[in-house]
Amino acid sequence: MKEKILQKFGEVFGGDTGAAVYFAPGRVNLIGEHTDYNGGHVFPCALTIGTYGVARQRADRKLRFFSMNFEHLGVLESSLDELKPDKAAGWTNYPKGVLWAFEEKGFEIPYGMDLLLYGNIPNGSGLSSSASVEVLTGFILRDMFGFSVTNQDLALIGQFSENRFNGVNCGIMDQFAIAMGKENHAIFLDTADLKFEYAPIRLEGAKIVIACSNKKRGLGDSKYNERRSECETALAELQEVVGIHSLGDLTEEQFEQYKSAIKDDVRKKRAKHAVYENQRTMQAVEALKAADIAKFGQLMNDSHVSLRDDYEVTGAELDALVEAAWEVDGVIGSRMTGAGFGGCTVSIVRTDAIDGFIEKVGAQYLKKIGYAADFYVVEIGDGPRAI
Ligand code: GLA
Repeated sequence: MKEKILQKFGEVFGGDTGAAVYFAPGRVNLIGEHTDYNGGHVFPCALTIGTYGVARQRADRKLRFFSMNFEHLGVLESSLDELKPDKAAGWTNYPKGVLWAFEEKGFEIPYGMDLLLYGNIPNGSGLSSSASVEVLTGFILRDMFGFSVTNQDLALIGQFSENRFNGVNCGIMDQFAIAMGKENHAIFLDTADLKFEYAPIRLEGAKIVIACSNKKRGLGDSKYNERRSECETALAELQEVVGIHSLGDLTEEQFEQYKSAIKDDVRKKRAKHAVYENQRTMQAVEALKAADIAKFGQLMNDSHVSLRDDYEVTGAELDALVEAAWEVDGVIGSRMTGAGFGGCTVSIVRTDAIDGFIEKVGAQYLKKIGYAADFYVVEIGDGPRAI
Protein backbone atom coordinates (compact mmCIF):
# COMPACT_ATOMS: atom_id res chain seq x y z
CA MET A 1 0.00 0.00 0.00
CA LYS A 2 2.77 2.41 0.97
CA GLU A 3 4.55 2.07 -2.37
CA LYS A 4 1.30 2.38 -4.29
CA ILE A 5 0.24 5.64 -2.69
CA LEU A 6 3.75 7.14 -2.70
CA GLN A 7 3.93 6.45 -6.42
CA LYS A 8 0.57 8.11 -6.97
CA PHE A 9 1.66 11.07 -4.87
CA GLY A 10 4.74 11.38 -7.06
CA GLU A 11 2.63 11.34 -10.22
CA VAL A 12 0.14 13.89 -8.91
CA PHE A 13 2.48 16.29 -7.11
CA GLY A 14 5.80 15.80 -8.94
CA GLY A 15 8.05 13.35 -7.09
CA ASP A 16 7.79 12.01 -3.55
CA THR A 17 10.98 13.39 -2.00
CA GLY A 18 10.21 14.69 1.49
CA ALA A 19 6.77 13.06 1.64
CA ALA A 20 5.69 10.99 4.65
CA VAL A 21 3.03 8.27 4.82
CA TYR A 22 0.37 7.89 7.51
CA PHE A 23 -2.68 5.83 8.43
CA ALA A 24 -5.76 6.41 10.60
CA PRO A 25 -8.40 3.69 11.13
CA GLY A 26 -12.15 3.67 10.71
CA ARG A 27 -14.28 2.55 13.64
CA VAL A 28 -17.24 0.38 14.45
CA ASN A 29 -19.37 0.82 17.53
CA LEU A 30 -20.31 -2.47 19.21
CA ILE A 31 -22.97 -0.95 21.48
CA GLY A 32 -23.89 2.44 23.00
CA GLU A 33 -25.55 4.29 20.11
CA HIS A 34 -26.67 7.91 20.33
CA THR A 35 -25.46 8.00 23.91
CA ASP A 36 -22.29 10.03 23.40
CA TYR A 37 -23.99 13.43 23.23
CA ASN A 38 -26.21 12.39 26.14
CA GLY A 39 -23.40 11.96 28.66
CA GLY A 40 -23.57 8.16 28.40
CA HIS A 41 -21.21 5.29 27.63
CA VAL A 42 -20.07 3.95 24.27
CA PHE A 43 -18.15 0.82 23.30
CA PRO A 44 -16.48 1.28 19.91
CA CYS A 45 -13.28 -0.12 18.43
CA ALA A 46 -10.88 1.00 15.71
CA LEU A 47 -10.59 -1.17 12.59
CA THR A 48 -7.68 -2.29 10.45
CA ILE A 49 -9.33 -0.57 7.48
CA GLY A 50 -9.09 3.21 7.33
CA THR A 51 -7.50 6.15 5.55
CA TYR A 52 -3.97 6.32 4.21
CA GLY A 53 -2.37 9.72 3.65
CA VAL A 54 0.81 11.00 2.02
CA ALA A 55 1.77 14.53 3.04
CA ARG A 56 4.54 16.98 2.27
CA GLN A 57 5.03 20.44 3.66
CA ARG A 58 5.12 23.27 1.13
CA ALA A 59 7.21 26.43 1.16
CA ASP A 60 4.13 28.63 0.64
CA ARG A 61 0.62 28.73 2.15
CA LYS A 62 -1.09 26.72 -0.59
CA LEU A 63 -3.10 23.57 0.11
CA ARG A 64 -3.26 20.99 -2.65
CA PHE A 65 -5.43 17.97 -1.93
CA PHE A 66 -6.01 14.83 -3.99
CA SER A 67 -8.09 11.77 -3.12
CA MET A 68 -7.69 8.44 -4.88
CA ASN A 69 -11.34 7.79 -3.96
CA PHE A 70 -12.44 10.86 -5.92
CA GLU A 71 -9.84 10.89 -8.70
CA HIS A 72 -12.24 12.57 -11.11
CA LEU A 73 -12.14 15.71 -8.95
CA GLY A 74 -8.41 16.08 -9.60
CA VAL A 75 -6.22 18.28 -7.40
CA LEU A 76 -8.34 20.63 -5.28
CA GLU A 77 -6.40 23.74 -4.48
CA SER A 78 -6.98 26.30 -1.75
CA SER A 79 -4.91 28.16 0.82
CA LEU A 80 -4.40 28.49 4.55
CA ASP A 81 -5.72 32.03 4.15
CA GLU A 82 -9.14 30.89 2.96
CA LEU A 83 -10.26 28.21 5.38
CA LYS A 84 -14.01 28.45 5.05
CA PRO A 85 -16.57 25.65 4.67
CA ASP A 86 -17.71 25.40 1.08
CA LYS A 87 -20.17 22.78 -0.22
CA ALA A 88 -18.39 22.72 -3.58
CA ALA A 89 -15.13 21.76 -1.83
CA GLY A 90 -16.55 18.25 -1.15
CA TRP A 91 -14.36 15.95 0.92
CA THR A 92 -11.65 18.60 1.37
CA ASN A 93 -13.90 20.28 3.96
CA TYR A 94 -12.73 17.59 6.40
CA PRO A 95 -8.98 18.24 6.30
CA LYS A 96 -9.62 21.97 5.92
CA GLY A 97 -11.88 21.90 8.98
CA VAL A 98 -9.05 20.40 11.03
CA LEU A 99 -6.54 23.02 9.82
CA TRP A 100 -9.09 25.67 10.79
CA ALA A 101 -9.69 24.02 14.18
CA PHE A 102 -5.96 23.96 15.04
CA GLU A 103 -5.76 27.68 14.28
CA GLU A 104 -8.89 28.34 16.37
CA LYS A 105 -7.20 26.51 19.25
CA GLY A 106 -4.20 28.82 18.98
CA PHE A 107 -1.76 26.74 16.90
CA GLU A 108 -0.18 28.64 14.07
CA ILE A 109 0.17 26.69 10.85
CA PRO A 110 3.02 28.37 8.99
CA TYR A 111 3.03 26.47 5.69
CA GLY A 112 0.60 24.68 3.45
CA MET A 113 0.89 21.08 2.25
CA ASP A 114 0.35 18.67 -0.58
CA LEU A 115 -1.85 15.84 0.64
CA LEU A 116 -2.97 12.65 -1.04
CA LEU A 117 -5.55 10.37 0.58
CA TYR A 118 -6.69 6.85 -0.08
CA GLY A 119 -9.40 5.26 2.02
CA ASN A 120 -10.51 1.65 2.09
CA ILE A 121 -13.51 2.35 4.33
CA PRO A 122 -16.66 2.44 2.21
CA ASN A 123 -17.64 6.16 2.00
CA GLY A 124 -20.78 7.22 3.85
CA SER A 125 -21.09 3.75 5.36
CA GLY A 126 -21.25 4.76 9.00
CA LEU A 127 -17.74 3.45 9.71
CA SER A 128 -16.54 7.02 10.21
CA SER A 129 -14.58 7.72 7.07
CA SER A 130 -14.88 11.44 7.85
CA ALA A 131 -13.63 11.15 11.45
CA SER A 132 -10.80 9.01 10.13
CA VAL A 133 -9.77 11.82 7.76
CA GLU A 134 -10.04 14.34 10.60
CA VAL A 135 -7.84 12.40 13.01
CA LEU A 136 -5.39 11.61 10.20
CA THR A 137 -5.09 15.32 9.34
CA GLY A 138 -4.48 16.22 12.99
CA PHE A 139 -1.86 13.50 13.28
CA ILE A 140 -0.10 14.79 10.16
CA LEU A 141 -0.13 18.40 11.45
CA ARG A 142 1.35 17.29 14.77
CA ASP A 143 4.10 15.40 12.99
CA MET A 144 4.80 18.14 10.46
CA PHE A 145 4.88 21.13 12.82
CA GLY A 146 5.67 19.49 16.17
CA PHE A 147 2.47 20.68 17.89
CA SER A 148 2.23 19.52 21.46
CA VAL A 149 -1.10 17.68 21.47
CA THR A 150 -2.06 14.23 22.72
CA ASN A 151 -4.08 11.71 20.74
CA GLN A 152 -7.04 12.58 22.92
CA ASP A 153 -6.59 16.24 21.88
CA LEU A 154 -6.60 15.09 18.25
CA ALA A 155 -10.00 13.52 18.91
CA LEU A 156 -11.37 16.69 20.50
CA ILE A 157 -10.00 18.92 17.73
CA GLY A 158 -11.50 16.57 15.13
CA GLN A 159 -14.90 16.73 16.84
CA PHE A 160 -14.65 20.53 17.12
CA SER A 161 -13.98 20.77 13.38
CA GLU A 162 -16.90 18.46 12.57
CA ASN A 163 -19.25 20.50 14.81
CA ARG A 164 -18.14 23.97 13.90
CA PHE A 165 -16.73 23.71 10.39
CA ASN A 166 -18.84 20.92 8.92
CA GLY A 167 -22.04 21.62 10.87
CA VAL A 168 -22.68 18.12 12.25
CA ASN A 169 -23.30 18.25 15.97
CA CYS A 170 -21.67 14.86 16.58
CA GLY A 171 -20.47 13.57 19.92
CA ILE A 172 -16.92 12.47 20.71
CA MET A 173 -17.24 8.73 20.03
CA ASP A 174 -15.92 8.45 16.47
CA GLN A 175 -12.87 10.65 16.76
CA PHE A 176 -12.03 9.17 20.18
CA ALA A 177 -12.32 5.57 18.98
CA ILE A 178 -10.04 6.36 16.05
CA ALA A 179 -7.43 8.46 17.87
CA MET A 180 -7.22 6.04 20.83
CA GLY A 181 -7.68 2.73 18.99
CA LYS A 182 -5.90 -0.39 20.22
CA GLU A 183 -5.51 -3.71 18.43
CA ASN A 184 -7.96 -6.40 19.64
CA HIS A 185 -9.52 -4.05 22.21
CA ALA A 186 -12.74 -2.05 22.32
CA ILE A 187 -12.87 1.23 24.22
CA PHE A 188 -15.36 1.55 27.07
CA LEU A 189 -15.69 5.31 27.20
CA ASP A 190 -17.72 7.42 29.58
CA THR A 191 -18.50 10.46 27.46
CA ALA A 192 -19.43 12.47 30.58
CA ASP A 193 -15.80 12.78 31.68
CA LEU A 194 -13.79 10.96 28.97
CA LYS A 195 -12.64 8.29 31.44
CA PHE A 196 -12.05 5.10 29.50
CA GLU A 197 -10.90 1.55 29.75
CA TYR A 198 -9.61 -0.84 27.08
CA ALA A 199 -11.55 -4.10 27.07
CA PRO A 200 -9.96 -7.08 25.32
CA ILE A 201 -12.25 -8.55 22.66
CA ARG A 202 -11.65 -12.27 22.55
CA LEU A 203 -14.38 -13.73 20.44
CA GLU A 204 -13.52 -17.38 20.68
CA GLY A 205 -14.69 -18.93 17.44
CA ALA A 206 -16.56 -15.83 16.23
CA LYS A 207 -15.84 -12.68 14.24
CA ILE A 208 -17.19 -9.19 13.70
CA VAL A 209 -19.04 -8.92 10.39
CA ILE A 210 -20.09 -5.57 8.96
CA ALA A 211 -22.95 -5.43 6.48
CA CYS A 212 -23.09 -2.24 4.49
CA SER A 213 -26.60 -1.32 3.31
CA ASN A 214 -25.29 0.83 0.46
CA LYS A 215 -27.93 3.35 1.38
CA LYS A 216 -26.09 6.62 1.70
CA ARG A 217 -26.94 8.76 4.66
CA GLY A 218 -28.15 11.73 2.61
CA LEU A 219 -30.55 13.56 4.86
CA GLY A 220 -28.99 11.85 7.84
CA ASP A 221 -27.02 14.81 9.08
CA SER A 222 -30.07 16.99 9.60
CA LYS A 223 -31.99 14.11 11.22
CA TYR A 224 -28.98 13.57 13.48
CA ASN A 225 -29.06 17.16 14.66
CA GLU A 226 -32.83 16.83 15.15
CA ARG A 227 -32.43 13.80 17.46
CA ARG A 228 -29.79 15.64 19.40
CA SER A 229 -32.02 18.62 20.01
CA GLU A 230 -34.98 16.39 20.95
CA CYS A 231 -32.77 14.90 23.67
CA GLU A 232 -31.66 18.33 24.83
CA THR A 233 -35.28 19.46 25.20
CA ALA A 234 -36.20 16.25 27.08
CA LEU A 235 -33.24 16.79 29.40
CA ALA A 236 -34.32 20.36 30.14
CA GLU A 237 -37.83 19.10 30.99
CA LEU A 238 -36.44 16.40 33.30
CA GLN A 239 -34.18 18.95 34.99
CA GLU A 240 -37.35 20.70 36.20
CA VAL A 241 -37.97 17.71 38.48
CA VAL A 242 -34.60 16.01 39.07
CA GLY A 243 -31.05 17.31 39.46
CA ILE A 244 -29.16 15.68 36.58
CA HIS A 245 -26.49 16.91 34.16
CA SER A 246 -27.32 14.56 31.32
CA LEU A 247 -29.65 11.70 30.38
CA GLY A 248 -26.73 9.38 31.10
CA ASP A 249 -27.11 10.20 34.81
CA LEU A 250 -30.42 8.32 35.03
CA THR A 251 -31.03 4.64 35.74
CA GLU A 252 -34.02 2.95 34.08
CA GLU A 253 -35.98 3.13 37.35
CA GLN A 254 -35.30 6.84 37.76
CA PHE A 255 -36.34 7.47 34.17
CA GLU A 256 -39.65 5.67 34.72
CA GLN A 257 -40.18 7.70 37.89
CA TYR A 258 -39.58 11.10 36.28
CA LYS A 259 -40.55 10.60 32.64
CA SER A 260 -43.93 12.31 32.98
CA ALA A 261 -42.01 15.60 33.12
CA ILE A 262 -41.33 15.18 29.37
CA LYS A 263 -44.28 16.82 27.69
CA ASP A 264 -44.22 15.07 24.35
CA ASP A 265 -44.45 11.35 23.56
CA VAL A 266 -41.88 11.39 20.80
CA ARG A 267 -39.33 13.12 23.04
CA LYS A 268 -40.15 10.61 25.78
CA LYS A 269 -39.18 7.75 23.44
CA ARG A 270 -35.94 9.49 22.44
CA ALA A 271 -34.94 10.04 26.06
CA LYS A 272 -35.92 6.48 26.96
CA HIS A 273 -33.55 5.15 24.33
CA ALA A 274 -30.69 7.33 25.59
CA VAL A 275 -31.17 6.18 29.20
CA TYR A 276 -31.74 2.47 28.49
CA GLU A 277 -29.00 2.27 25.86
CA ASN A 278 -26.49 3.69 28.30
CA GLN A 279 -27.44 1.07 30.91
CA ARG A 280 -27.29 -1.66 28.24
CA THR A 281 -23.78 -0.59 27.30
CA MET A 282 -22.57 -0.91 30.88
CA GLN A 283 -24.25 -4.32 31.17
CA ALA A 284 -22.71 -5.43 27.88
CA VAL A 285 -19.20 -4.66 29.09
CA GLU A 286 -19.90 -6.57 32.30
CA ALA A 287 -21.17 -9.52 30.24
CA LEU A 288 -18.03 -9.46 28.13
CA LYS A 289 -15.84 -9.43 31.22
CA ALA A 290 -17.75 -12.44 32.50
CA ALA A 291 -17.19 -14.14 29.11
CA ASP A 292 -20.98 -14.22 28.63
CA ILE A 293 -20.99 -13.57 24.91
CA ALA A 294 -24.59 -14.73 24.52
CA LYS A 295 -25.74 -11.97 26.87
CA PHE A 296 -23.57 -9.47 25.00
CA GLY A 297 -25.29 -10.52 21.77
CA GLN A 298 -28.76 -10.24 23.29
CA LEU A 299 -27.97 -6.69 24.44
CA MET A 300 -26.85 -5.84 20.89
CA ASN A 301 -30.20 -7.10 19.60
CA ASP A 302 -32.08 -5.10 22.24
CA SER A 303 -30.10 -2.03 21.22
CA HIS A 304 -31.33 -2.39 17.65
CA VAL A 305 -34.95 -2.73 18.73
CA SER A 306 -34.67 0.45 20.77
CA LEU A 307 -33.00 2.33 17.89
CA ARG A 308 -35.77 1.09 15.59
CA ASP A 309 -38.81 1.68 17.78
CA ASP A 310 -37.88 4.47 20.19
CA TYR A 311 -35.08 6.42 18.53
CA GLU A 312 -36.35 5.76 14.99
CA VAL A 313 -33.04 5.96 13.18
CA THR A 314 -32.87 2.55 11.50
CA GLY A 315 -35.00 2.61 8.34
CA ALA A 316 -36.08 -0.25 6.06
CA GLU A 317 -32.54 -1.07 4.89
CA LEU A 318 -30.88 -1.50 8.29
CA ASP A 319 -33.94 -3.32 9.64
CA ALA A 320 -33.86 -5.72 6.69
CA LEU A 321 -30.19 -6.54 7.34
CA VAL A 322 -30.59 -7.00 11.08
CA GLU A 323 -33.87 -8.89 10.99
CA ALA A 324 -32.41 -11.30 8.41
CA ALA A 325 -29.29 -11.71 10.55
CA TRP A 326 -31.34 -12.64 13.63
CA GLU A 327 -32.75 -15.59 11.68
CA VAL A 328 -29.35 -17.07 10.89
CA ASP A 329 -27.92 -19.82 13.07
CA GLY A 330 -24.58 -18.84 14.52
CA VAL A 331 -25.39 -15.14 14.85
CA ILE A 332 -24.63 -14.09 18.42
CA GLY A 333 -25.93 -10.55 18.05
CA SER A 334 -26.72 -8.02 15.33
CA ARG A 335 -27.58 -4.32 15.27
CA MET A 336 -27.21 -1.14 13.29
CA THR A 337 -24.03 0.81 14.08
CA GLY A 338 -23.19 4.51 13.87
CA ALA A 339 -25.69 7.31 13.30
CA GLY A 340 -28.20 5.16 11.37
CA PHE A 341 -30.45 6.35 8.52
CA GLY A 342 -28.47 4.05 6.23
CA GLY A 343 -24.88 2.92 6.67
CA CYS A 344 -23.93 -0.39 8.26
CA THR A 345 -24.88 -3.10 10.70
CA VAL A 346 -22.49 -4.95 12.99
CA SER A 347 -22.96 -8.62 13.78
CA ILE A 348 -21.01 -11.12 15.82
CA VAL A 349 -21.08 -14.36 13.89
CA ARG A 350 -19.60 -17.77 14.63
CA THR A 351 -16.70 -18.32 12.25
CA ASP A 352 -18.19 -21.49 10.77
CA ALA A 353 -21.45 -19.65 10.03
CA ILE A 354 -20.00 -16.60 8.25
CA ASP A 355 -20.31 -17.87 4.66
CA GLY A 356 -23.93 -18.89 5.22
CA PHE A 357 -24.62 -15.58 6.95
CA ILE A 358 -23.36 -13.55 4.00
CA GLU A 359 -25.29 -15.69 1.56
CA LYS A 360 -28.60 -15.68 3.45
CA VAL A 361 -28.60 -12.07 4.64
CA GLY A 362 -27.33 -10.92 1.23
CA ALA A 363 -30.13 -12.76 -0.62
CA GLN A 364 -32.89 -11.57 1.75
CA TYR A 365 -31.66 -8.00 1.50
CA LEU A 366 -31.56 -8.02 -2.27
CA LYS A 367 -35.06 -9.47 -2.39
CA LYS A 368 -36.52 -6.95 0.03
CA ILE A 369 -34.63 -3.77 -0.85
CA GLY A 370 -33.82 -4.32 -4.52
CA TYR A 371 -30.06 -3.74 -4.48
CA ALA A 372 -27.14 -5.59 -2.92
CA ALA A 373 -25.44 -5.15 0.44
CA ASP A 374 -21.68 -5.54 0.94
CA PHE A 375 -20.09 -7.60 3.69
CA TYR A 376 -16.77 -7.18 5.48
CA VAL A 377 -15.23 -9.47 8.06
CA VAL A 378 -13.19 -6.99 10.09
CA GLU A 379 -10.39 -7.01 12.63
CA ILE A 380 -9.84 -4.56 15.48
CA GLY A 381 -6.75 -2.45 14.86
CA ASP A 382 -4.56 0.29 16.34
CA GLY A 383 -4.97 4.07 16.25
CA PRO A 384 -3.26 6.55 13.89
CA ARG A 385 0.38 6.15 12.99
CA ALA A 386 3.17 6.96 10.55
CA ILE A 387 3.92 3.99 8.31
C1 GLA B 1 -22.33 9.37 14.67
C2 GLA B 1 -21.68 10.46 15.53
C3 GLA B 1 -21.28 9.92 16.89
C4 GLA B 1 -22.42 9.18 17.57
C5 GLA B 1 -23.08 8.19 16.60
C6 GLA B 1 -24.32 7.57 17.18
O1 GLA B 1 -21.40 8.39 14.35
O2 GLA B 1 -20.57 11.01 14.87
O3 GLA B 1 -20.80 10.98 17.70
O4 GLA B 1 -23.37 10.08 18.09
O5 GLA B 1 -23.42 8.79 15.37
O6 GLA B 1 -24.01 6.79 18.28
